[in-house]
Amino acid sequence: MNKSMTRKIIEDHYISGNMVAGEEVAIRIDHTLTHDVTGTQAYLAFETLGIPRVKTEKSVSYIDHNLLYTDNKNMDDHLYLQSIAKKYGLYLSRAGNGICHIVHLERFGIPGKTLLGSDSHTPTGGAIGMLSIGAGGMDVAMAMAGEPLYIKMPYIINVNLKGKLRGGVSAKDIILEMLRRIGVKGGLGKVFEYTGQGLDCLSVYDRATIANMGAEMGATTSIFPSDETVHKFFTHQKREADWVELYPDKDAYYDGVIEIDLNTLEPMVAKPHMPDNVVKVSELKDVKVNQVFIGSCTNASYTDFVKAAKIMENKVVHDDVSLSIAPGSRQIFSMLLRDGIISKLVASGARVLECGCGPCVGIGQAPNTGGISLRTSNRNFRGRGGTLDAYLYLASPEVAAATALTGYITDPRDVIDSKLLENIEEPREYIINDNMVINPIETNENIEIIRGPNIKPMPVNDPMEEIIEARVVAKFGDNITTDDIIPASAQFSALRSNIPAISEITFGRIDPGFYSRAKEYKKSIIIGGENYGQGSSREHAAIAPMYLGVKAVIAKSMARIHKNNLVNHGVIPLLFADSAAYDSIEQGDCLYIEDAISQIRTKKVKILNKTKNTFFETIVDLTDREVELIIAGGRLRFIQNK
Ligand code: F3S
Repeated sequence: MNKSMTRKIIEDHYISGNMVAGEEVAIRIDHTLTHDVTGTQAYLAFETLGIPRVKTEKSVSYIDHNLLYTDNKNMDDHLYLQSIAKKYGLYLSRAGNGICHIVHLERFGIPGKTLLGSDSHTPTGGAIGMLSIGAGGMDVAMAMAGEPLYIKMPYIINVNLKGKLRGGVSAKDIILEMLRRIGVKGGLGKVFEYTGQGLDCLSVYDRATIANMGAEMGATTSIFPSDETVHKFFTHQKREADWVELYPDKDAYYDGVIEIDLNTLEPMVAKPHMPDNVVKVSELKDVKVNQVFIGSCTNASYTDFVKAAKIMENKVVHDDVSLSIAPGSRQIFSMLLRDGIISKLVASGARVLECGCGPCVGIGQAPNTGGISLRTSNRNFRGRGGTLDAYLYLASPEVAAATALTGYITDPRDVIDSKLLENIEEPREYIINDNMVINPIETNENIEIIRGPNIKPMPVNDPMEEIIEARVVAKFGDNITTDDIIPASAQFSALRSNIPAISEITFGRIDPGFYSRAKEYKKSIIIGGENYGQGSSREHAAIAPMYLGVKAVIAKSMARIHKNNLVNHGVIPLLFADSAAYDSIEQGDCLYIEDAISQIRTKKVKILNKTKNTFFETIVDLTDREVELIIAGGRLRFIQNK
């Protein structure tokens, strides 16, 4: 069989399993990344394994999400991460060095390698031909311990790009077009492999934008060839020795093909509150905007800001708009400073934030009450920006800059000659400076872990019981995100290492009574609709409910990473065999599962709704290995019992 890039990398890293789409396969992980929000839980898990040093080729701990030192908590956590890196042989990318995915591309990534990151946008690494997969912290801890990653062998879809982008239309519009076509569930179980002559007009950062937002389709990952464009990127980064060519074989086998003609694309925007709610900018009528943000791991490259500066040059941000910008990495920031781009944007009224995630995840720059914010980031779920009743739109830097000027969502071609936005030059010379990366050290015996009062032990679940009797603590509709479960905010991220405190805000924004009901019921079950748990890889969205006594989540369908997180923490993810059963269940109902351990091993679980005196069937969409993890009480307990 002629092979796709994905298949080649999986074969190179194969450990066990069946390389048939949909079947479980175990692969070796070369690199890991974590960040300060998900990292502390990953390292708390890693510490319990008693392994003296990480076993991966490269593991990098990034501090990029919550950089606000408004009290002791964030700096406590950052010092914990720094001491962990020193003790266990990791690289540490310090606060201010940039967003994990961008820095990993620039300074660490290697084509053809595997990367596992405790962040759902880890697929950004696909821009340079890495097989880059997002996971929960526990899976990353296990990879650092040398354990394989278990994934379902993906369906591999070729996305054939034809033509060339026109001025004012950019990589963001390609991925918004993908979202428009296939939706937030359309990538489940799939890898999108981009090829075609249209790649010629896409830089590594453009490809990163596309690979990054593949996560919004639920894809396992996305990947691009490691071609001459990637080669040049490595040369600029003074890492030519790390470059490896990677292409699919001629006539490679794919499970499906999507074609996009770049010539026909228009500037697009994802409307609130889902990234697939995509329309052309030209279809919107007079959407007045209060806030614009250009930044995040999706769109914060050098050329993104050059384009914004061209659009804004000698003009001023609209009186009613607050414009913030945050370059994706210190390298990008330094080059923008050197080349006078930042001063142009500042002259137009932009407010410069530090290189980090910040507003993307509700850490600063929250919109006004009921406000409208247009962002270049990747998620527009309700509350994602830190204000629950705000409306978030997602668009390209060009649309963002034009909108900042007019105060209305604006097609950039209406404010600048589109020719001026074509063939934007990459920086003439890259600034290479890794002095904000702390390298691993050889001996680590006497290194003390710094554990401030904000670092609490990770709770571990009990083994599964034969009889589960639990009450329905909440019933939700479709597309519940991990942001709904644990709201993205400065408050949450400061509590990231303190599950008892986090549990008090679980579902707080959409169901304020959740915490007290869960405490009252002691053992409970959550009911969800379609695509339950989509969005961030946030493991806290599984750990906190587990800590509150949630024994199972029963949904119509479930997002991959969240399902894995539930398994890793011993919470049973079940799917309704017949969606009609969903309709009959109400909050407060008492559900009863007899012979739970024997039933789960058969991959079907029959449940009695004692309140309604009816039975319904559920499906266990898990491998035998995953079932045993749940029975043990989660992955940590399973490993400890071995
Ligand atoms: Fe950070 Fe937002 Fe990306 S939180 S990693 S910039 S999705």
